[in-house]
Amino acid sequence: MTGTDRRRWDERYADRGAAPVEAIAPPGAFAAHADVFPSTGRALDLACGQGLGSVWLARRGLDVWGVDVSATAIDQARDLVRRSGIADSCRFDVADLDQGLPDGPPVDVILCHKFRDGRLDGAIIDRLAPGGLLAIAALSEVGASPGPFRAVAGELTAAFAGLDVIAADEGDGLAWLLARG
Ligand SMILES: C[S@@+](CC[C@H](N)C(=O)[O-])C[C@H]1O[C@@H](n2cnc3c(N)ncnc32)[C@H](O)[C@@H]1O
Repeated sequence: MTGTDRRRWDERYADRGAAPVEAIAPPGAFAAHADVFPSTGRALDLACGQGLGSVWLARRGLDVWGVDVSATAIDQARDLVRRSGIADSCRFDVADLDQGLPDGPPVDVILCHKFRDGRLDGAIIDRLAPGGLLAIAALSEVGASPGPFRAVAGELTAAFAGLDVIAADEGDGLAWLLARG
């Protein structure tokens, strides 16, 4: 990612300010499917932003690693987990996913909410432990105007066709998929 894009994300998060503990909740796309997420094991939250999804997973009982390119978002995520009282279950690091997934062991959950880079699809599948859960949501062209960061119709289900799909949908500008490795 270019320095300009990174600074843009930093500015966006600085304007927004740290998230309140009361906002910790399942990521919007998966709110109706929260029960599908396990309550033990290891999770990786890709492009975790302010860490709300990561901390929600940690509260469920998972050991979570959240990564994002924005140092401001990562500072806010670290602050959020400190305030939520479960700091031992979450780690946050700055990482540019343009360089691929950060190295690590297989995980039981990969959460990737409102971030899409098709170059990562293979690595995401490989990183799932047997039976591990992928929860991915992306801006979509379905029900919205085409755009460079929007998934085309059927993109997620095609990309993750090798997994066992639990549920998937697209419309109103959002595509999401829940599947097991
Ligand atoms: C729309 S936000 C979603 C944040 C969070 N997952 C959520 O649902 O609230 C997109 C996130 O992707 C991050 N991002 C964009 N490009 C990235 C990259 N190349 N590597 C890592 N993170 C990136 C941004 O910093 C931002 O936090």
